[in-house]
Amino acid sequence: MESQWSHKNRVYPILSCFSVIFLLYLNFGGNIKIPILWQQHLSFVGTNSTRFVVSDDVGEESSVYVNGWNSYWLMEESVWENSRFRVSKMMKRGAQMGMTVCRTWAFNDGNGPNALQISPGLFDEKVFQGLDFVIVEARKNRIRLILSLVNNLEAFGGKGQYVRWAKEAGVNVTIDSFFSDPTIKGYYKNYIKAIVTRKNSLSGVKYSEEPAIFAWELMNEPRCASSSSAPVLQAWITEMAAFIKSLDDKHLVTVGLEGFYGLKAINRSSVNPGEWAASLGSDFIQNSAVENIDFASVHAYPDSWIPDADMGEKAIYLSNWVDSHVNDGEYVLKKPVLFTEVGSSFLVNKQESYDRDFFLKMMYDKIYESAKKKEAGAGALIWQLLIEGMGGYGDRFSLVAWNHPSTYNLIIEQSSRLRSLFSKSKTNRKLEQFDRC
Ligand SMILES: *[C@@H]1O[C@H](CO)[C@@H](O)[C@H](O)[C@H]1NC(C)=O
Ligand SMILES: *[C@@H]1O[C@H](CO)[C@@H](O)[C@H](O)[C@H]1NC(C)=O
Ligand SMILES: *[C@@H]1O[C@H](CO)[C@@H](O)[C@H](O)[C@H]1NC(C)=O
Repeated sequence: MESQWSHKNRVYPILSCFSVIFLLYLNFGGNIKIPILWQQHLSFVGTNSTRFVVSDDVGEESSVYVNGWNSYWLMEESVWENSRFRVSKMMKRGAQMGMTVCRTWAFNDGNGPNALQISPGLFDEKVFQGLDFVIVEARKNRIRLILSLVNNLEAFGGKGQYVRWAKEAGVNVTIDSFFSDPTIKGYYKNYIKAIVTRKNSLSGVKYSEEPAIFAWELMNEPRCASSSSAPVLQAWITEMAAFIKSLDDKHLVTVGLEGFYGLKAINRSSVNPGEWAASLGSDFIQNSAVENIDFASVHAYPDSWIPDADMGEKAIYLSNWVDSHVNDGEYVLKKPVLFTEVGSSFLVNKQESYDRDFFLKMMYDKIYESAKKKEAGAGALIWQLLIEGMGGYGDRFSLVAWNHPSTYNLIIEQSSRLRSLFSKSKTNRKLEQFDRC
């Protein structure tokens, strides 16, 4: 009898504690936000001449060479509770593959589903909370994000949406006015400000103070094709990079270029994938040389840029493309060069993933050689990774990595050999020890 009572006495307080939590849950409709009390310690990534670097607590610097990936869909899938697991899983699997950087869209403009910016300066808080979630998940897995701020292409609104907004406001503009019209530049600056000064609703950390952000990217693949447009794009990059730095001097800034050489880079025109590439208003050297641009970005798509070439020709093209940009980073720009999209189709021929692996391995080998010499080829990000059941986000360059063992193994090998290069330095030993906790 006695012992029974004393047992019950211990149970009641516990039950009542549960019921208080349950009542709280009912009162807040299940929307209680449990604050994040502890986060991974990360330091900001910086540059020292042609290298990315991180410093430890005592200021000792170590080099960073990146193996990373693209998943443009993270914010979109974080808006609603029932799809967030995809983001968590992608981050976790990315980290397990030894990757350290993920590039993703921090934009969705217009009146499409889950738009972040519904009209100029008007934001959907629920979508912003999705982006908050992406950043928290990245940090949890020690992944740093490259956040792209607007699209040159139509997907998720892009520059076309900004131009439509200006037209609706009665401004006389064409598509390339995106880069020069004062009204549109004002919209874009307001957007930058809203993002960069955002305070994360889950962690309480301001985006400008968040070390899990690797860099801001001005635009995905800027092109400005109207005649004599090169100075227009150049001026836009200069103005917008300075604007970001005025709000946030802790983070790196890059352009988001495909890497084409412009009309004036005459001795490099043979490196471009075709004559067309020089007349898109961009120039890799000039654009990347802008003072507030901390590192150069380049994409690589042999299958879509020279679709009619055979394997051998594509291989020669890719090899020259990578060497030329790394040399420019090393000797002309004196900045790191990051290959932020590396895509190869596995639909081009029937040899399963052989072609993709071939191009990816060529890229990875060149980055590894650069890392061994501590040169400007600072890393590569595969385009793009999904998890299972996401067909809607696919293109012919997308894959669920672990379902393609040869590609999966390539990625993991690249991560581990880059890591082992620097594991001898004291800082990296410390970082690795930290990684294991
Ligand atoms: C940059 O790297 C050079 C060469 O390794 C080194 O001597 C210098 O101290 C580094 N700069 C800073 C600010 O750490
Ligand atoms: C709009 O601008 C174009 C080119 O600058 C000009 O030719 C046209 O007359 C303008 N239209 C109006 C309605 O002002
Ligand atoms: C192109 O010319 C520049 C300046 O004259 C030179 O530094 C560079 O090495 C040349 N590049 C190639 C690929 O020949």
